[in-house]
Amino acid sequence: MSYNYKDLGLSNTKEMFRKANEGGYAVPAFNFNNMEQAKAIVEACAEMGSPVILQCSKGAMEYMGSYMVPMIAKAVVDYARLSGSDIPVALHLDHGPSFEVAKKCIDAGFSSVMIDGSHLPFDENVAEAKKVVEYAHSLDVTVEAELGVLAGIEDDVKAESHIYTNPDEVEAFVKGSGVDSLAIAIGTSHGAHKFKPGDDPKLRLDILAEIERRIPGFPIVLHGSSAVPGQYVEMIKQYGGTIKDAIGIPDSELRKATKSAVAKINVDTDGRLAFTAGLRKAMAEKPGEFDLRKYLGPAKDEMKAYYKTKIVDVFGSEGTYQKATKVVK
Ligand code: G3H
Ligand code: 13P
Ligand code: ZN
Repeated sequence: MSYNYKDLGLSNTKEMFRKANEGGYAVPAFNFNNMEQAKAIVEACAEMGSPVILQCSKGAMEYMGSYMVPMIAKAVVDYARLSGSDIPVALHLDHGPSFEVAKKCIDAGFSSVMIDGSHLPFDENVAEAKKVVEYAHSLDVTVEAELGVLAGIEDDVKAESHIYTNPDEVEAFVKGSGVDSLAIAIGTSHGAHKFKPGDDPKLRLDILAEIERRIPGFPIVLHGSSAVPGQYVEMIKQYGGTIKDAIGIPDSELRKATKSAVAKINVDTDGRLAFTAGLRKAMAEKPGEFDLRKYLGPAKDEMKAYYKTKIVDVFGSEGTYQKATKVVK
């Protein structure tokens, strides 16, 4: 099936980012892998009046099915409107590995795509991004690319350490590729094992400031920005799970970044941890339960509650659009 994202009620990221940079906040980009996570995200964002980018990785796309993902995104938009909220919703490909995958997503109804050539030599990264931009822009779809390498694991790619984005390269990259936003590496990293307890994680806000000086007003994206909340690490262990003690990116560091040209911040791990903690608790407390609504529901509610706090503590995007006025069943 092929859709144009506009027919699904979705938005690209252009206007979202313009407003976010003007207003000194960032748009939440939350990953989803199923209906429950999509509901947690839209209910949190509609109730808070925050714009939202629904992110779907290639792995998530394969898990849900490319026929299912645009339909879930349409349902998310419908939910927002029925609840009385006018928040814009983008459906975004996270870490698109190739032109072919990006094109498949655009043709399926995505309003925004990332082409991740961060592991490629500079010229190849520019060329790959440019190829995606040419196709995407012909359909008014926005494109994100990345310069620099984040530590951590994403889909099939694993990097042991950071390669911070070189500010000397950003101007040539955005001019040469024509992308709409740029993901940079300033000390964030993917996954649940970012830093050890006792570490004092700091972002390289000096590099961010220098990048902003080179490409003033250009929308910047931060990946790998989960906080790895201690309460969920503890809950997972308490209810029979195993997880290494770790800490993530402090809310205060990200909050500082939202005041700059950072227009989008990616969070996936925190949603996974909140969902898993809620799921384990519900299953442990009712071991005889096999009505899956009784444990998937609490898991969704835990993720939703956490994202509502994150919208206030990190993104600063609360109330930038109309809040939901009705509960939709
Ligand atoms: O940055 C990567 C995201 O957390 C997506 O993870 O590829 O396991 O869906 P995934
Ligand atoms: P986290 O693993 O920190 O949630 O990062 C998610 C991300 O960057 C998705 O692209
Ligand atoms: Zn990422």
